[in-house]
Amino acid sequence: MNDSSQPATEVYMDTHVDSPIMDYLNDLREKFAGVDTGEVADYIPELATANGDWFGICVATTEGNVYEVGESRQEFTIQSISKPFVYGLALEDNGRKDILEKIGVEPTGDAFNSISLDPVTGQPANPMINAGAITAAGQIMGYNNEKKLARVMDMLSAYAGRSLEIDEKVYQSESQTGHRNRAIGYMLRNFNILENDPTDTLELYFKQCSASVNCRDLAIMGATLANAGINPLTQRRAIRGEYVENVLSVMGSCGMYDYAGEWIYKVGMPAKSGVAGGVVAVLPGKLGIGVFSPPLDTRGNSVRGIEVCNRISMDFNLHMFNVVQPAKSVIRCAYDGSRITSKHLRDSIERERLKEEGHRIKVYEIQGDLNFSTSEVIVDKIVSMVDEADFFIVDLKRVLTIDQSTCQLFFQLLLKLAHIGKELVFTNCDTYPQLERYMRRHLQDRNDAAWLSFVDDFALEYCEDRILQRSETVPAPTPLESFELFDRLSSDEIDIIESRLASQHYRQGVTIIHQGESANKLYLLAQGQVSIKITLPDGKIKRLATLSQGLVFGEMAWIERSERSADVTVDSDALCYTLDIDDFDAMMADHSQIKVKVLGNLLKIFTRNLRKANTEIGVLS
Ligand code: DON
Repeated sequence: MNDSSQPATEVYMDTHVDSPIMDYLNDLREKFAGVDTGEVADYIPELATANGDWFGICVATTEGNVYEVGESRQEFTIQSISKPFVYGLALEDNGRKDILEKIGVEPTGDAFNSISLDPVTGQPANPMINAGAITAAGQIMGYNNEKKLARVMDMLSAYAGRSLEIDEKVYQSESQTGHRNRAIGYMLRNFNILENDPTDTLELYFKQCSASVNCRDLAIMGATLANAGINPLTQRRAIRGEYVENVLSVMGSCGMYDYAGEWIYKVGMPAKSGVAGGVVAVLPGKLGIGVFSPPLDTRGNSVRGIEVCNRISMDFNLHMFNVVQPAKSVIRCAYDGSRITSKHLRDSIERERLKEEGHRIKVYEIQGDLNFSTSEVIVDKIVSMVDEADFFIVDLKRVLTIDQSTCQLFFQLLLKLAHIGKELVFTNCDTYPQLERYMRRHLQDRNDAAWLSFVDDFALEYCEDRILQRSETVPAPTPLESFELFDRLSSDEIDIIESRLASQHYRQGVTIIHQGESANKLYLLAQGQVSIKITLPDGKIKRLATLSQGLVFGEMAWIERSERSADVTVDSDALCYTLDIDDFDAMMADHSQIKVKVLGNLLKIFTRNLRKANTEIGVLS
């Protein structure tokens, strides 16, 4: 019963919204929690103590988002899931060449503990089977086993983003029962794959397998590999970027043992399973999945782990060979210099010239990741347009990443265009120093091509200037009658205005107008070039426009009699005529027809600038 005498009780509405991904994972867990096939491993006795109902699922993205359900924090031993990570450390310690001499990369189609050694060399087939993993452990650098173990645990912790410990009970249990692995160890010693007594290496291997993790750790370890070796939560690098592809390759081809073929066919992600019930899967560039559920199938893979990964991959199209059409959309928009001009406002002669010749400037706004397949699209486009233009601008404002092959292709293209007298110009590439470094390094002994990079529309302005310069003579000061502001004024009327004008020379670099100062003068730029700039809240200077001679500036505040809204600085030595507002008003008292014409012309100028801004918004948005 609502008692109006009582003050209204504050109705608290919980606005927290769970991510739909959490709901999805909860449903998925519920869906497979009932799966009761598989056996908890017991050949390492301590593993048999695990609760078969434990079931955790976790997804971690390269953006650092983590979604976890069920027993995602239940500790268990990492077991064979340690193998790809230790293989990565062995690659870092020894290099690809030495490791490939010791360990193959061929799937065996055999079980994880099969003694798959090359009958002649004794080389284990790949680093995911025990023989290969024991060999990899044998390649870890360190003064003694303790130091080696510390490096292994530090590396695994870097992947997990927290300090991991060894589960001593499981370690002891495996060390005491690891006879088959010891046999493998001595076989490897026999073939000199392990160059010393295998005991220490075997203990190191048993310990790496006994690192205690949880399902969340596995997902983050997977996301670290997906993120080119950098932990997305801690930003700590766990492995050198160049070896990530090798680790993911052996996970893809051998990670799920004699189920690897079906796994990559159905799930389509590099993965690794462990006998304690963990599974980690990686979608390169995107995410890591961790699943924990102890009951294993006959191949030693977690039954629920397989089901969950299969399902997630299907539901979210995560199969890595599922091609989305990124390449074609790498060119976000393309236009030419006759449709879009820079913020350098030019006089009518120049504007006419650019209308006629602006199409010789092609601009490509690029987006997304630049790699061979996407930059090939850009290069192909420019090559196909080579007869249509003399200047090609590549705008990298919306690019996410640039790889080496892109730098190489752009460099070759720049040379080819320079060779035929055309220019490739880049803008907004300040966040990709690797491109500039590559260009400077490869251009340093050459004088037949230049690395030109700008920000925003300065590249367009540069190309416009180049077009205008192609047949330009040094301009004389613009006569008053050529100023648009004085269109339709008779020579007498212009004489009246001229009588009230003052003239002033300004050296390059001087600031003529300061933002915030009061406005009492209108400026007519008779010679030179000025730019209108504002200071953004982050302190960055933003250019609003650049003006060539024959144009006016300061007109807005002059008309409103308000404060100046921007700074005006001199780009090249300038001559300005100035008209004082009070003079103008006094003059107009007697010559209102002049005032009408001048204000009419100002309106025309405003309208054109507005139309220009609308076209830009239309084409660029
Ligand atoms: O060497 C062993 O047998 C165990 N430490 C690891 C085996 C394992 O995890 C196999 N994975 N499915």
